[in-house]
Amino acid sequence: MLTVKDLPNLSGKKVIVRVDFNVPIKDGVIRDDNRIVAALPTIKELLSKNARVILMSHLGKVKHKLKDEDPAKFEKQIRDGNLAPVAARLSELLNKSVKFVNVTRGAELEGTVAALADGEVALIQNTRYEKGEEKNDAELSAYWAQFGDAFVMDAFGSAHRAHASTYGIPAILKEAGKPVAVGYLVEKEVANLTRCVTVAAEDRPYVAILGGLKVSDKIKVIESLLNKCDKILIGGAMAFTFLKALGYKTGTSPVEDDQLDYAKNCFLKANGKIVLPCDTVISDAFDPAERTTIQTVKIADIGDAFEGLDVGPETRKLFADEIAKAKMIFWNGPMGVFEQEEFQKGTLAVCEAIAANSKAFTVCGGGDSAAAVKQFGYKDKFSHVSTGGGASLEMIENDGHLPGIDVIR
Ligand code: 3PG
Repeated sequence: MLTVKDLPNLSGKKVIVRVDFNVPIKDGVIRDDNRIVAALPTIKELLSKNARVILMSHLGKVKHKLKDEDPAKFEKQIRDGNLAPVAARLSELLNKSVKFVNVTRGAELEGTVAALADGEVALIQNTRYEKGEEKNDAELSAYWAQFGDAFVMDAFGSAHRAHASTYGIPAILKEAGKPVAVGYLVEKEVANLTRCVTVAAEDRPYVAILGGLKVSDKIKVIESLLNKCDKILIGGAMAFTFLKALGYKTGTSPVEDDQLDYAKNCFLKANGKIVLPCDTVISDAFDPAERTTIQTVKIADIGDAFEGLDVGPETRKLFADEIAKAKMIFWNGPMGVFEQEEFQKGTLAVCEAIAANSKAFTVCGGGDSAAAVKQFGYKDKFSHVSTGGGASLEMIENDGHLPGIDVIR
């Protein structure tokens, strides 16, 4: 697999770079520019090689069927998906002008690309403004591919999507004999996550920690991790589906009733590998405004009108003891509702336990857990914090394969 470093001097060459600038933006203000910062090494490398850099990214979701069904909602999606603030931030970070192309096809795009000089950067508007993007439409892929003499994939967070900009363009350019490569971010992500997929003897015990809301979202990754890990610690709301399947009363905790059989079979098949919470922090309301009480109880004592919103102190200790023994740790999904201060302790305890285990190789698999790691100030304590939540899980599920990376290989 070629990397951006292998590409020769690129003077006069137009290089399409797929980045993942799907960053949180509220009222036009970027809340976390981590993904923009993470793409800088690749962009700078290409600029040092005198390339004409054409950046492409999606931002948010765009449901095109809403155009007819609910035009006002459709327009809101378009407004929310505007990459203009990202172009401005990138320009600050690079300390050079970034030409923002406010369209995804047509004269303005073609003119800007044609006029791009060596060492200049353009960012094209949200790829998802095009209906054909998520369908990997052949006409759209060919239209965009015509702008590139080479392609660099640096959008790790989108590498599990076989879309026109992540898959169609590189497939066409590769077929045409043009260089396609991965960027520094993808190279780093692949190296770190591959270690969690193909487990070396010295990385055992290998402990996975899973949390978040739904078992159904994680079925494939649980199956895959059962074959790879020595222990899987399950917290977060998804633990309650397992606990109900094992006969516990879970009150009003979110449970996926259609996953109970799966959860029970999975737990039994795991033969002691799956570790579930033994106590929990419960409340009578998720919404702080409606709340009258918060209590810590054993799992067997969850009252009918209560829901579990974090793991309790005994579980924190149980999980911390397993984490302390590990030589490799993969973590995806918070242990509780860490956005509310009252229910942060479980997620914080995982951060602390991982930070305390300096001998282990530790990976946080993106998404909400990466947001928690950043919020609690533990980012530097991990060997790797992934920029891709869905992508890192699929990488584990698919034994190291993602369409957006396989197409470059
Ligand atoms: C992400 O934020 O996980 C990536 O940017 C992918 O976004 P998507 O789930 O909308 O494809």
